[in-house]
Amino acid sequence: MTSESSESPELDSSTLAARAGYAPEFTTRSSAPPIYMTTAFDIESLEQLDSVAGGREKGYLYTRDGNPNHEAFANDVAALEHAETGVVTASGMGALTAVLMAMVKTGDHILAARVLYGRTSQLLDHLAASFGLKITYFEVDDLQALRAAITSETRLCIVESISNPLLEVADLPAIVEVLKGIPLLVDSTFATPCLLRPIDHGATLVWHSVSKYLNGHGDVMAGIVVGSTNLIRRIRAMSSLYGVNANPFESWLASRGLRTLPLRMQRVSETALKVANFLKSNPQVSRVFYPGLEDHPHFARANRLLPNGCGGMLAFDLTGGRSAVDVLFRRLAHVIPFSPTLADARTTVSYPAGTSHKFMTASARAACGISDGLVRLSVGLEDAGDVNRELGEALAQLG
Ligand SMILES: Cc1ncc(COP(=O)(O)O)c(C=O)c1O
Repeated sequence: MTSESSESPELDSSTLAARAGYAPEFTTRSSAPPIYMTTAFDIESLEQLDSVAGGREKGYLYTRDGNPNHEAFANDVAALEHAETGVVTASGMGALTAVLMAMVKTGDHILAARVLYGRTSQLLDHLAASFGLKITYFEVDDLQALRAAITSETRLCIVESISNPLLEVADLPAIVEVLKGIPLLVDSTFATPCLLRPIDHGATLVWHSVSKYLNGHGDVMAGIVVGSTNLIRRIRAMSSLYGVNANPFESWLASRGLRTLPLRMQRVSETALKVANFLKSNPQVSRVFYPGLEDHPHFARANRLLPNGCGGMLAFDLTGGRSAVDVLFRRLAHVIPFSPTLADARTTVSYPAGTSHKFMTASARAACGISDGLVRLSVGLEDAGDVNRELGEALAQLG
């Protein structure tokens, strides 16, 4: 071989450009987690393909099936929730879709709490109408009705640990006892593992809209479900099959948000209690829903299940109904904006009858206690005195 022939051939600029972007191998580790923004992973041989696919070698193949950023976030949330493992999805609804596809089939029966995030009920109703699932809704406190509704075809029960938007606290240990082994899926988006760990109370799976507190900065759309290794394997397979997998960048952002979750939950819990007490004394407000208030029907239960605080979500009814809500939102627009989400770092307001629960009929909303004057408030990280002053000034304009 001549010395000339051992040199790399000069490559055409199209080849150089097409292969650009790969840093030389190095041995130090990045201090912050890297983002694996890649559709797929290069494989050295068919042997390696078999050993990665067969789980004998740690590796990834295709991001829809798995990616280090997905896995890092899912493992961290699973650890916080006392679960074995988890799967991160494109949205909270994506996580619910994957769970349902893994756990129920046509003809099966699902029990669901009457007050749930509106789209959860909408998805269940859609599956009932189009795919022959049977759904029974029950009042979360009516354990007798829950017991009576169980059939030999019941495969799943769905509740929210703290409900959206009325802040009911589900008595998880009592529900688990009634279910006698029927899997319980808990949407714990409002509580987060900092306030409550449903698995410690016997739940089978815990589900979150990561778009909310787990990320906490209003810039991610993702979901997660955590539970046992066996169940999550089946759910992950459905997430991949139905294509509801997360995106690596959003998983990375969510991991970044997760680092401050305990501090944020402590702060919003303290502030929300001050705001709830402040709103209670306002003449424009007929009722405040916050489980940390002594007059909330679930106050004692909240003390038992949520000893570290009740979180940053609360709701209140305006005596002036829908038109008063409209005036309030206009007055608040530049300080506490109307935003159809929750758990941002900023305090925001929303209108369940027109956003999260607009897909319910007016009578179904009324049956749940969601009135046309109901405002949902997501308390952020601001100073409590500032938030109360801004709310007070806007409410004064309604009189
Ligand atoms: C309690 C709750 N669960 C689930 C969801 C759905 O999550 P996503 O919007 O991430 O699909 C939401 C969305 O607002 C929610 O509030």
